[in-house]
Amino acid sequence: MNVSEAIAGRQSIRAFDSDREVTSEVITSILTTAGRAPSGSNIQPWHVYVVTGAAKNRISDACKARYLSGDEGESEYHYYPQAWRQPYIGRRRQTGFGLYGLLGIDKADTAAVQGYRVTNYEFFGAPMGLFFTIDRDMELGSWVDYGMFLQSIMLSARGAGLETCAQAAFCPYFDSVMPLLRAPDEQMLICGMSLGYPQRGAVINSYRTERLDAEAFTTFLRD
Ligand SMILES: Cc1cc2nc3c(=O)[nH]c(=O)nc-3n(C[C@H](O)[C@H](O)[C@H](O)COP(=O)(O)O)c2cc1C
Repeated sequence: MNVSEAIAGRQSIRAFDSDREVTSEVITSILTTAGRAPSGSNIQPWHVYVVTGAAKNRISDACKARYLSGDEGESEYHYYPQAWRQPYIGRRRQTGFGLYGLLGIDKADTAAVQGYRVTNYEFFGAPMGLFFTIDRDMELGSWVDYGMFLQSIMLSARGAGLETCAQAAFCPYFDSVMPLLRAPDEQMLICGMSLGYPQRGAVINSYRTERLDAEAFTTFLRD
């Protein structure tokens, strides 16, 4: 797989083969490669928690229980703007409607929406979950670095035949997740990620999101 194929072929995978484990050798190799991601002054501001088995189930159970009880939780940071506006709200809606449309879910059908959303907390059937934290005293520059690290994990995973779905869905329940990770108070949860081999033939995995043409977000200055 060349670099362009690895980037262009990546998509969020939301149905994994739960019977196919990811070995600790494979995840260690992926993280070692991704650790080559650049960061300002090479400070490498990331902490990763890898969960499988009972450790993963505990997080799953805690988040599912909260989500299904109607507890929306509250993230420690705002992932999205406080006030949505165009063009972002339009892109968000297009992505959501596209996915629900493919699954035949009516957005007004709260039981169906909940039934789909809760799969986030089951790691979409993946055998391995990753959680990413950052020290609270790190500044915005380190969050910039972190994005590169996350994308490097997703691409490195593809090189090993694995796929991923980044998950901010865990953030509202950070106060359940962080103690279960035994993460210190100085750290803050950035997001989770499901990792595994994709389930073949799963309709949800056929969802391809659109992108803008480069001209739409680039300004070329020539004189
Ligand atoms: C940091 C981050 C958090 C995300 N959180 C979730 C999530 O909680 N649940 C989910 O289903 N997808 C989540 N996504 C996936 C995005 O919806 C997806 O990347 C976007 O729609 C583009 O689609 P693609 O990844 O298939 O190209 C997240 C993506 C990122 C980068």
